[in-house]
Amino acid sequence: MNDNFAHRAAEWDSPEKTRMTEIFVTEMLRHVSPQTHWKALEIGAGTGLVGLQIAHLVDKIVFEDTSEAMLDVLKQKLSTESSVEIVHGEVFDYKQKDIDLVFSCMAFHHVPDIEKTLEHLFTITNGGATVIIGDLRTEDGSFHRFEPIPHKGFDTEALSEQFKKAGFDVISSQTYHKLKRERVEGVASEYEQFMLIAQKK
Ligand SMILES: C[S@@+](CC[C@H](N)C(=O)[O-])C[C@H]1O[C@@H](n2cnc3c(N)ncnc32)[C@H](O)[C@@H]1O
Repeated sequence: MNDNFAHRAAEWDSPEKTRMTEIFVTEMLRHVSPQTHWKALEIGAGTGLVGLQIAHLVDKIVFEDTSEAMLDVLKQKLSTESSVEIVHGEVFDYKQKDIDLVFSCMAFHHVPDIEKTLEHLFTITNGGATVIIGDLRTEDGSFHRFEPIPHKGFDTEALSEQFKKAGFDVISSQTYHKLKRERVEGVASEYEQFMLIAQKK
């Protein structure tokens, strides 16, 4: 499995990334109230910057990521009694059908097959489960200009249709933040981040 984040893992937890995940979590918690009996799954959990803010609110949390290096950083933050499960691999490698909450921050644009991923999410979630995806709206490719990625952000209308096709109801999809980055030297760009919330009936 390619680990495109191996060279970034040790330095991932910068103040900028921490802030970005806090903004995501604040927005997410405006829309969903995690329950203490829930099992949550984070797709592309990385070093756990998002999931570790949620873990104490739910019964169990599964951190899934294709990068062993990112997960190694996460593991160093866990205490022995933490009620967590780590899946090193694609989301398809998680097969239990017991998830109440799925969330993902800035990882979906790295996931090659969204259609199959959503179909799989439908099979592993309980009735009433909520899925929350935070990612970039369609961008010009400059955000990842030095590395090939499957998606240059997302058209949320098209993504909503994919969710519906997989069987979910789409509750909302709104811009929740604008990232300012200088990806090209001397050129400041803004990248809109959306949050899409879907539910399985
Ligand atoms: C931009 S980072 C975001 C990490 C974390 N969500 C955060 O906000 O700090 C994207 C993460 O997605 C992971 N990733 C890439 N492709 C993936 C895939 N197909 N399935 C799951 N995770 C993937 C990367 O290894 C990386 O940890």
